[in-house]
Amino acid sequence: MDIMVCSPLIHQGQSLSLTLLYGLRKTAGFQKMDEKTIASKIEELKKETNTILLVHNYQIPSIQDVADFLGDSLDLAKRATLTDAENIIFCGVGFMAESAKILNPEKNVIIPDIDARCPMAAMVDPKELIKLKEKHPDAEVVSYINTTAEIKALSDICCTSANGVSVVKSLECDKVIFVPDQNLGSYVKRYVQDKEIIIWPGLCPTHHRIRKQQIINLKNRHPKAEILVHPECRPEVIDVADHVFSTNGMVNYSKESKTTEFIIGTEKELCYRLKKENPEKEFYSIKSAICPNMKKITLEKVLNSFQTLGPKVTLPEDIIHKARKPLERMMNIGRGD
Ligand code: 13P
Ligand code: SF4
Repeated sequence: MDIMVCSPLIHQGQSLSLTLLYGLRKTAGFQKMDEKTIASKIEELKKETNTILLVHNYQIPSIQDVADFLGDSLDLAKRATLTDAENIIFCGVGFMAESAKILNPEKNVIIPDIDARCPMAAMVDPKELIKLKEKHPDAEVVSYINTTAEIKALSDICCTSANGVSVVKSLECDKVIFVPDQNLGSYVKRYVQDKEIIIWPGLCPTHHRIRKQQIINLKNRHPKAEILVHPECRPEVIDVADHVFSTNGMVNYSKESKTTEFIIGTEKELCYRLKKENPEKEFYSIKSAICPNMKKITLEKVLNSFQTLGPKVTLPEDIIHKARKPLERMMNIGRGD
């Protein structure tokens, strides 16, 4: 397997920046429940506990089916700011729940499994980033939302896969430090040639594992299909794509397009949503494109979170304060796809 390992850049302590408090466990009694019963209990508890359920597009189908809102990182961060609910249960990975907390510090933000963490978010060492900032004092730091709160607090602005190009273009500076995804960074570089972009060598193992040949094999079998890929893919995969989108970008495009077949170059679970919303169309996934961390959350764990209102995301106040500015600056730019 040809995966670049950035181990010197993995900051072990960072994964602990998501400080979570466990609620009391009341697990007994639901182990034997079927999915339908669990889903209806979740629906009841949503009203009883004044809780909203935000779900990322890579979650397993049974969790997608109980979502109040299903979306990509940018959409869910926005949804988190628009709700009146007292509690937000976030089914995704740690950085997504942290972003919801940073934007809504007064709300209870809950993640059903504290170990669901994006490995790419742990690939930036704050001390190394501080050193890089000192070396390039004229650069602005753009951090992909797939970073810890601590790294956001050191950044000038955040971006997601939906607006990386627009965010970097919006800056007045001539030099940018882009963390942590080298593939998204080099994708942005294709469209922003008037700035020097220093790219951190992080990556998403799930997307970096997708190879150009896998896409070409699918295209040979389905010649009419359009190729949609995520910007976290390798440059050679981007080169063979018809379009490059965030996950919601793929949802919107495939709905509006007259094309009826699509090759989907991202985590395979997105295809469940795509097929559900477009039953007359065909979506061909990369079977090996699985994010194991997204799969740590189960329907049982979601019910447990509704019953216990935990585990809660907690972050130091100063980090929340510093990390909110770059996130809000990005939210004001909106989507670019
Ligand atoms: P989206 O914001 O496009 O859903 O991407 C999130 C992510 O983690 C991609 O791997
Ligand atoms: Fe992180 Fe990749 Fe999983 Fe997205 S798919 S959460 S970037 S590991």
